[in-house]
Parts: sequence; structure tokens; C-alpha cells
Amino acid sequence: MNISVIGTGYIGLVAACCLANSGHQVFSVDKDLDKIEKLNRGVIPIYEEGLETLLNKAQQSGKITFSSEIGPALINTDMVIIAVGTPATADGRVDMSYVNDVAESIIDLAAYPLTVIMKSTVPPGTGKLLCKRFFSRAKVPISYSSNPEFLREGKAVWDWYNTDRIVIGTENQETAEKVMELYRDIDAPKICMDITSAEMVKYASNAFLATKISFINEIANLCERVGASIDAVAPAIGMDQRIGPHFLQAGLGYGGSCFPKDTTGLDYISSFNGYHFSLLKSVIEVNTNQRVMIVRKITQALDDLHDKKVAVWGLSFKPDTDDVREAPAVDIIKHLIAEGAHVVACDPVAIDQVKGVFTHNRLDFNTNPYETCRESNAILLATEWSQFLNLDWIRIKGLMKSPYLVIDGRNVLDDKTLQNMGFSYIGVGRS
Ligand code: UDX
Repeated sequence: MNISVIGTGYIGLVAACCLANSGHQVFSVDKDLDKIEKLNRGVIPIYEEGLETLLNKAQQSGKITFSSEIGPALINTDMVIIAVGTPATADGRVDMSYVNDVAESIIDLAAYPLTVIMKSTVPPGTGKLLCKRFFSRAKVPISYSSNPEFLREGKAVWDWYNTDRIVIGTENQETAEKVMELYRDIDAPKICMDITSAEMVKYASNAFLATKISFINEIANLCERVGASIDAVAPAIGMDQRIGPHFLQAGLGYGGSCFPKDTTGLDYISSFNGYHFSLLKSVIEVNTNQRVMIVRKITQALDDLHDKKVAVWGLSFKPDTDDVREAPAVDIIKHLIAEGAHVVACDPVAIDQVKGVFTHNRLDFNTNPYETCRESNAILLATEWSQFLNLDWIRIKGLMKSPYLVIDGRNVLDDKTLQNMGFSYIGVGRS
């Protein structure tokens, strides 16, 4: 098939490269000229495992081309995949302006019948409205399907090929078959439903996963108060097959480009539809508090943060990505600086991203975790990059200053060993 993919974020680019490697002819579009120039040189503008190799293979076989012009993407194509951003606005609404721009281009420029596939996360009800707009204003017939993605950043290529399910929301069988054709080489259940339900599946999945995280964080907070250990509690809960072992890792809570915006987005959508989604509101509140709580723990342990130096390990919202959107570390660093601390931050790949959004005269950066510990009173492990898991703690102790505080925001360090070495160790819900 000839497929145009609009948007080269981690969803659009992964979809474009994977589809090209499945033998489709892909035309990938982004209005960011700088990104297109990089992609044409075979360089991916984001950090995503395995993606550059896929891109290079697709380019060598001539299966993928890039352009900043949407016009050519709407001519001689069977399918247009919309994968542009739907960020949150300041008041929590879903910003639909990029989706609307693409829809208007389709209405204005499509000259042959085509199928539009929505991969952007859009509020339930959007697809139905778009179908009406296409039907009443486009010059050619446009069929439509909601086809949400469940790709994790950093593991998106793996997730594409190993997804648990493919959700296809459409009102007609012919369109469903066309969408299935996209995934002909993927062995996963393909579930067809109406458009609005498919849109809801995406929000409900992310909201449920966020709920699991906030739930386990609350249990961890309670463990601290009653003297239980989340290390024992979480795995034992997860062994119940009805609960499952995933997303029960207590810590600083969720960040990234999806969970925060999709939970606030769903909360807004609920209110807009006259429904008070109290559970979801609590999930969001717990996640925000988790960050504040860690700052309180550091402040209490160091008495006062003025003239104290804190090393922060990990800036990205999770390991294996350079994405710092809604990253707990960035929020916490802002709090620490506001409380008077001097912060030295460390990350294998995300330092430039933080410098792009936030600098301060009491914030330094270093890619070497040992260097960040020099003269520091505390270390906060905010993101569990593998680089931070097997370090020489004798050397670290020699570089640090009293009280040798280690705050393990992800519960991944060996608490007993560190305590025996003379560190003051604080985790999340570890007795
Ligand atoms: C998520 C969804 O997993 C994916 O299906 C969706 O399409 C996009 O959003 P992603 O944002 O890449 O993917 O991150 P994910 O790996 O799911 O983790 C999200 C956040 O939750 C991270 O900040 C992570 O540190 C945190 N997390 C995850 C926990 O705090 N505890 C856990 O047990 C699991």
C-alpha cells in the first residue's frame, strides 16, 4: 500500500519505519524542517532503541521518503495515518489544533478516495465528528478508523511487533480490512469496534496503568508509616493473576508524554460530559504529591537545603529515553533549587533536553555520576538508568560529604548494603 504518515514524533516515526520495513511505500511528513533534514540524512531526531537501524534499512530499500510538505502526501496515497501531537493545554484540555490542521488539509487537498487512520490520542467522540466533516466537505470519499497505539517510549519498535492487541475502530468492514492489512505480519489479536469505543480504549488503558502506579505508591507511603516493606508487599499482590505483576513499582510516580496528559485529558473530558471521575482525580493528585513528598524527605534529612549540594541521577522520565516531558526529576530539581539547594544533575542522554527547558545558576550538569557526588550531601536517584545500578559505592562515599544521604526514588539500590557502608538510605515504602 502507499501510506502517508503525518507527524514524525516517536509514534509517527516508529509507525512509518515499521510499515516501510513491512514492504509498504511510506511517505512521512513533518512541518519541522530541521527534523526532515536529519531524517533525510538517516539520523533520527529522538532516542529510540532500534529505530535508526530500521530507518536506514527502509531508506536503502527506497521504501520511505520524508517531506515537510503535506500536499504530496495526500495525492496518490491509499491511506493517511495521523500521528501528530495532542498536548495538554494549561487548563487540562486536549489541544486538537494539530489534528484539526491535518484534517483541514485532507478536506482541501485530497483528490482521490482515501482512508484516514487516527493514531493520535483524541477525545472519545472526535472520530465521529471528523467523519461528518469529511463527509460534508471533502471532494472525495474518505473512510476513517481510530487505531490507537500502545507503544512505550524507548521500547516502541519492540512494542510495535509484540503488541498485546491491535484495536481497530471503524464503522465499516472494508476499512477494518484495510487497517488489518497494515499489520499483516504481526501476530496479535485484532479487535474491531466502533470508533468512539476505540478512542476510549486508549484513554482507559493509560488511566488504568496510571491508577496502578498511584495505588502502589499510596500503599508504599502507608508501608513507611506502619513498618511494612513494599518490596515484600508489591510482588505478593502481583502474584494474584487478577492483579498481575506489572506497574506495581513504587517510586516517584509516572511522567512522560502520555500518562500525565492523558489522565488530565480524561479528567477534563469527564467533567465536560458532566461526570466527576473522582478516582482519576485522586490518581493525578497522588502522582503530584509523590514528587513533593520526596523533596520533604530530603529537606527533613538534611535539616535545611541552603548551602547543601544534591546530586540528582536521572533526568528523563524513565530509562532508555531522552524525553524529559513531565519528568519527576525536573519537577523535583525545581523544588530543591527553590528550597536553596545546589543541584548537580546527571543523565546519560537527557542533559541537553533539560538545558533546553530549564537552567539556573545553582544547577550544574555532568554525565559522570561519580563527578556529581563530589562534595554533595545527598544523592537522589530519580531515574533507574542501568548506569546507576552498579557503581563503586566506596568511591562515592569518599567523594561525598556528611550525612551521606542516598534517596532512592525508584527502590532499585541495595538498601541494606548501603546502610552497612554508612550511608543514610531512604527509599519509597521500604521499611
Ligand atoms: C505509556 C504506555 O505504557 C503506552 O502504552 C502508551 O502508549 C504511552 O504511555 P510510556 O509513557 O513510554 O508509555 O512509559 P511507561 O513505560 O508506560 O512508563 C510511564 C511512567 O510510569 C514512567 O515514568 C515510569 O517510570 C512510571 N512507572 C511505570 C512507575 O512509576 N511504576 C511502574 O510500575 C511502571
